Amino acid sequence: MSVKENVKSYYGGIAKKVSEGQSGGCGCGGGSCCDGISSNIYDIEKLKSLPKEAIVASLGCGDPLLFAQLEAGETVLDLGSGGGIDVLMAAKYVGEEGKVYGLDMTDEMLVLANSNKEKMGATNVEFLKGFIEEIPLEDEAVDVIMSNCVINLSEDKERALAEAYRVLKSGGRLAIADIVALKEVPADIRRSAELWAGCIAGTIRIDEYKSILEKVGFSKIEINPAHLYSKSVIQQLVEGKKMLLEDFFDEKSLDIVDGAFAGAYIKAYK
Ligand SMILES: C[S@@+](CC[C@H](N)C(=O)[O-])C[C@H]1O[C@@H](n2cnc3c(N)ncnc32)[C@H](O)[C@@H]1O
Repeated sequence: MSVKENVKSYYGGIAKKVSEGQSGGCGCGGGSCCDGISSNIYDIEKLKSLPKEAIVASLGCGDPLLFAQLEAGETVLDLGSGGGIDVLMAAKYVGEEGKVYGLDMTDEMLVLANSNKEKMGATNVEFLKGFIEEIPLEDEAVDVIMSNCVINLSEDKERALAEAYRVLKSGGRLAIADIVALKEVPADIRRSAELWAGCIAGTIRIDEYKSILEKVGFSKIEINPAHLYSKSVIQQLVEGKKMLLEDFFDEKSLDIVDGAFAGAYIKAYK
């Protein structure tokens, strides 16, 4: 199975569970989605008007709306929109004159997102099916690109970010939350980490991320780690999945993985 097919089937399974009324699962939330429905990354007050299923399906690693600075009337695109949590929140900021697109490749996620859109009665939202590496929008179509824990899953991050740049209007901004690597981690430890957090395998270092963003044309790039995968967060995540930490790491590997990954806030301009 290709990486894309694997990712689709993993997130499709989570979406199906949520649609059937079971709890979601765990995406890639360092101290976030996995240990209590985004309670650590989102302001609970702001989530109150969202359908429960959008919140339960949250699989992000940060809150891009904290720094996207959305304004009324803007057009926004969320890459890898999942169950739609960020799209539906963004829809409130941009209002009726604005528009928010959510793009996702997984059918089950799109079904869930559309059902959440209906429950909220959002009329300024459209979910699109497609790949972030081939965005189905015209050039210079949007003011803001958001994304939450998705680019790290892409095997071709340069293409995904070049596509983001293409569809942004001149002067437009990128506001994404994503997992980054803060130090080198041996491949076997990365593989163990992958079992408790779905977004580690394809994670790159901050300097690598920055150079891809520069290469595809972005400027004024800022990448700030915000949610650290410390030992205690890792322990919480593993135990939240009813597994034992010692099944994954001995003391030495735990020291290596301690603080090696973080949910980061990434901002840049076209
Ligand atoms: C970790 S979840 C995050 C979902 C959402 N952003 C959130 O915060 O809850 C990743 C989502 O990205 C989608 N995805 C992953 N790779 C993709 C790709 N190459 N193109 C389009 N969607 C993708 C998956 O289907 C899944 O819904």
